[in-house]
Amino acid sequence: MGESDFWVIISGRSGRTAYLEKNNSSFSKCEVLSGRMGKKTMTDGAARLTRDSATSTGHALSAADWLDTHFLAGQCEYETMLRAAGFQAGWCVLDAGCGGGSFLPLLSELLGENGRINAVDLAPENVSQVERIVESGRLQCPVSVREGDVTALSFDDGQFDGVWSANVTQYLPDAELDAMLAETRRVLKPGGLLAVKDTEDCAFRLHPIPSLLLWRLFDALAGRGEMTVIGGLRALHLSHFVREAGFVHVRHKVTYIERQTPLRPVEEAFIAGLVEWLAQEAESLVMPASEMVYIRACCDPSHPLYMLRQPGLYWREANVLLTGYKAA
Ligand SMILES: C[S@@+](CC[C@H](N)C(=O)[O-])C[C@H]1O[C@@H](n2cnc3c(N)ncnc32)[C@H](O)[C@@H]1O
Repeated sequence: MGESDFWVIISGRSGRTAYLEKNNSSFSKCEVLSGRMGKKTMTDGAARLTRDSATSTGHALSAADWLDTHFLAGQCEYETMLRAAGFQAGWCVLDAGCGGGSFLPLLSELLGENGRINAVDLAPENVSQVERIVESGRLQCPVSVREGDVTALSFDDGQFDGVWSANVTQYLPDAELDAMLAETRRVLKPGGLLAVKDTEDCAFRLHPIPSLLLWRLFDALAGRGEMTVIGGLRALHLSHFVREAGFVHVRHKVTYIERQTPLRPVEEAFIAGLVEWLAQEAESLVMPASEMVYIRACCDPSHPLYMLRQPGLYWREANVLLTGYKAA
């Protein structure tokens, strides 16, 4: 196995090993191991488990290994959204907040060999992950990646035909969202396309966790200032921000991702990781004691209420695709 190959080790605490189908993205083989989400890089032959889903820059649920798993769990719908955004062959496109590069294989395919992608992300380890994907030669157009802040872009005015930004606005307080939109408008050519994809968490479900419990959890997290929750609940207001920023022909479309048992291993891994994150966050909140007992049971593999053992397990995630144009 060469340095550019990645094995994604997916949690599930089941101790089982599962192999995913080879696909066109950067992943070839997945395992379900005991323990939490992590990624094994094979550069020195030693496994390295990343035990936290946050980046070094403090963004929750944004470490590349977590993003890989989340992306694979909803890949079909995510890729349909990107295909629908309107990026054209030969365009020069900015991926603003590229994370570990989950969308780059398809984006590069859509732009083709005459296209070009610049990618920026705040987290250096995510930038390094994208550099490894670029070096692997699997992307279908030239891609350059660097550390950067989407609220203060280091690109010239009018440089891009399009900007793609997936799952980033949820981390930006309103003032930073305004700054990001002003910056993306600045770097777009007249007539250029902005496409923003983000989760619409008002529609989030993880059945059989009671909805009211989830809402109490979201309420407490938002009250504590957890931006990924605040931003996820703001998604339907994005079009307002985008219009205010001066974009025209603004449209949004909501796509649902729904999964129910029997789940694919990567979906199980994603749900196990998500429940574990929620339970971990709940420990630091003031929640009713009976709900804490239930939440802990949901991520305890030895408990009858363990989430992955529930026959009616159902995950629903809504996503907004928002498009707008810089006036010509
Ligand atoms: C949930 S991840 C999404 C990554 C990728 N777009 C995807 O959908 O897989 C959010 C990413 O936004 C990045 N990010 C958050 N705030 C940022 C900012 N102000 N500038 C650049 N990147 C930012 C984080 O580092 C993280 O990689």
